[in-house]
Amino acid sequence: MVGHDGHRGWVYYLAVQPSHQRQGVARALMSACEDWVRERGVLKIQLMVRHSNQDVIAFYNALGYVDGEVVVLGRFLDR
Ligand SMILES: CC(C)(COP(=O)(O)OP(=O)(O)OC[C@H]1O[C@@H](n2cnc3c(N)ncnc32)[C@H](O)[C@@H]1OP(=O)(O)O)[C@@H](O)C(=O)NCCC(=O)NCCS
Repeated sequence: MVGHDGHRGWVYYLAVQPSHQRQGVARALMSACEDWVRERGVLKIQLMVRHSNQDVIAFYNALGYVDGEVVVLGRFLDR
């Protein structure tokens, strides 16, 4: 899922079926996401990954994505 808030592009829920991983599918999907965002005049794209998900961080690092050194804050509204 890709979108933008007028300032930055955001990517969520990237996943490739295990039997099809390591064949360049996610790289192609991310390239399509980047094109979609760029075509809308937005020059930065970002996403969130859990610290524990080191394989996915390695994937994004391989595509040139780096740690933005930000903290994501959240709050459940039913508590
Ligand atoms: C992360 C994920 C989407 C990658 O999909 P993929 O189609 O296998 O990725 P690609 O084949 O396009 O990989 C491109 C490059 O990323 C790197 N890479 C991919 N998976 C990697 C891994 N597990 N560990 C280290 N590097 C990895 C490699 O450099 C790879 O190039 P190479 O295969 O030529 O070495 C897939 O592993 C996945 O669906 N994971 C589970 C879902 C998930 O946690 N999504 C993220 C939510 S934030």
